[in-house]
Amino acid sequence: MKFKRLSMIILMIAIIIILGCAKPQSTEKSSAPNMPPPPPKEMTIFSWWTAGGEADGLNELINLYHQKYPQVRIVNAAVAGGAGTNAKAVLKTRMLGGDPPGTFQVHGGSELIDTWVKTGYMAPITELFTRLKLDNAFPTGLLEMISYKKQYYAIPSNVHRSNMLWYNKAIFEQLGIEPPITLDELFKVCSKIKNRGIIPLSLASRNKWEVTHLFESLLLAVGGVDFYKSIFKGDIAWTDRNVINTLDTLKRLLYYVNQDHPALTWDQACGLVQQGKAAMNIMGDWAKGYFLANKWVAGKDYSAIPTPGTAGAFIVVTDTFGLPAKAPDKQASLNFLEVVASPEGQIAFNIKKGSIPARLSLPMDAFDEIAKANMIDFGKDSLVGSCAHGSATIEAFVTALNDQLGVFIQDKQVMKTAQALEQAAKDAGLRK
Ligand code: GAL
Repeated sequence: MKFKRLSMIILMIAIIIILGCAKPQSTEKSSAPNMPPPPPKEMTIFSWWTAGGEADGLNELINLYHQKYPQVRIVNAAVAGGAGTNAKAVLKTRMLGGDPPGTFQVHGGSELIDTWVKTGYMAPITELFTRLKLDNAFPTGLLEMISYKKQYYAIPSNVHRSNMLWYNKAIFEQLGIEPPITLDELFKVCSKIKNRGIIPLSLASRNKWEVTHLFESLLLAVGGVDFYKSIFKGDIAWTDRNVINTLDTLKRLLYYVNQDHPALTWDQACGLVQQGKAAMNIMGDWAKGYFLANKWVAGKDYSAIPTPGTAGAFIVVTDTFGLPAKAPDKQASLNFLEVVASPEGQIAFNIKKGSIPARLSLPMDAFDEIAKANMIDFGKDSLVGSCAHGSATIEAFVTALNDQLGVFIQDKQVMKTAQALEQAAKDAGLRK
């Protein structure tokens, strides 16, 4: 009985196999009908764009790339943590270990040139610039931030403005106050808001850089453009009166911020403004990307002005993409850089990201009023590089500044901090 059932099963299997082989051949032309299609090639993009707005901007670029190059699949290897808090260390491991991504987000200026170009980890992309006639497509100030020894090394994707104050319009209208233009006005407004039981200025400090971000705005407000440039060149001591005044200003401001700042990231601090728990926040215009992603309308629900005391000056943050010398598939990487440089790429990306296009002469009709105002300011203001975002000074000093300010927001020791910064500048080789 058992034997009979077994032979039945074997017979059925045999029939299934025979029928399978006898299946009529497809009439579609195919060189290898039974072979699966080759797996798509992959190209890894490395960044820290994971928050609302910044992730959306990146997706626009990825979508454009997939439309143009469907045979390549982009692997989005973003590592969370604003300003590259965690990503930069991961990137370093990959680059030094000979496993670079296809391309990666890097700030123009010192971060690109000192960290990656001078050390031989990047390949020049001057040919791409020539072929696409990009020499005249970007402002000179940005071209300087991406070149070294007459070669270009990256495509600027955007221009962010670091020195911006964001405010909740409903709160300002309800309290009958105007957005503050000077530091004095800022403190007056803060005091009025605090009296009404609302947090005047939201702050994050979870990843340290957020405080450096606020500090650089205040440094510019207190010292002005020439001072700001000179101190990062190493020509002025960090114990200078302007630094002392800046630290004093920061100390006074800490009285007006949310107490849970050590637990918050930059986007959560922006969230406090949107929720109406805080009235203002000082952050780069990726904050606008965050608001947009959270359906808050620029000009209606919120607005922005330059950080009080800094009108006429523009702290530039530019995210760029270059070609690692050991990129696994150079052409796939160059194709992405071409998408980043393209007018459609610059427009689609920057609308979501909150920034303005790095490329000149693009139509701005699709951008909001804050972007349009920044576009005008970028053309006429004094431009300085951001220190918190790697353009104005070398990484070693930025790290020291983050650390020292991290201690300062706890102990509030002005002189001690100024002296520690001067020592850090010396240690980093920035002071003669
Ligand atoms: C900056 C970067 C911006 C934005 C921000 C917050 O360093 O330039 O594009 O992403 O960090 O993550």
